Amino acid sequence: MRVLDRIEQVRKELEAARADGRRVGLVPTMGALHAGHTSLIERSAAECDVAAVTIFVNPLQFGPSEDFARYPRDLAADVATAEAAGADVVFAPAVEEMYPSPPATRVDVGRLGDVLEGGVRPGHFSGVATVVTKLLAVAGPCRAYFGEKDYQQLLVVRQLAADLSLPVEVVGCPTVREADGLALSSRNRYLSSQERTAATVLWRALSASAAAASDERDGDRLRELMVLTVASQPDVLLDYAEVADPATLEPLSTLVSEARLLIAARVGSTRLIDNVGVSVHV
Ligand code: PAJ
Repeated sequence: MRVLDRIEQVRKELEAARADGRRVGLVPTMGALHAGHTSLIERSAAECDVAAVTIFVNPLQFGPSEDFARYPRDLAADVATAEAAGADVVFAPAVEEMYPSPPATRVDVGRLGDVLEGGVRPGHFSGVATVVTKLLAVAGPCRAYFGEKDYQQLLVVRQLAADLSLPVEVVGCPTVREADGLALSSRNRYLSSQERTAATVLWRALSASAAAASDERDGDRLRELMVLTVASQPDVLLDYAEVADPATLEPLSTLVSEARLLIAARVGSTRLIDNVGVSVHV
């Protein structure tokens, strides 16, 4: 496996692979790799001939009071994890390589990036969209793998890829969970053991609402069920609980076919998000 830190190196490596007729898979990450990330790398390795993993904690997508400085970084461990999952190339650039000077150009996907997470974290999705566009420009034609864990991010990436005619096939992958339902996240390692127990309420709220959707079609009632479930856990402060259209993320007042339930909450100083899809048959 090759570990590269220069844009030109990785561009050449992947261009050479395509020239040999090999299909390139790309898994963008911020490192602190866990089984959610490795599920994406394994899928990329299974479906493509060259599996490239990017590891870059992108300063553009963190707000001034967020955890950029303390975000977990351990390149040696991540390289070993990526290799074990089947990666052929790891691209781990320094901030100066990606942004030699503060970028004047931003990618903004409009309303999709302003609702839900975008409402609580202004500018976040413009930071994500800008770095993902850059990583795709470096990688060239590929299949790129993103987790449904960050469902809004997956939609943002699909939107920018379509709008900018990027030569990429975006592949969404299911959320990997702990046995008690907690979605794997690099931020879970911030949780104390008491907070870790409390954090399961996100999945319980989503599950309760998803189960209720089999005969309750009122969006407000399903939303309220999530709010009440989270309120039963005083250590967890809800940012939002939404029942949304799975394509636009606009709130649904009535479920008619597909919906996405999305939730975000703070557990101590750690912010967690999760979501699940429901389909109703009328
Ligand atoms: P990061 O949080 O490291 O996540 C990298 C990829 O792993 C994302 O596509 C995310 O959705 C996926 N992922 C994380 N936890 C998962 C889980 N439990 N199950 C399945 N997939 C999971 O998301 C980012 O980094 C950044 O915003 C990035 C896209 C790299 C841009 O900086």
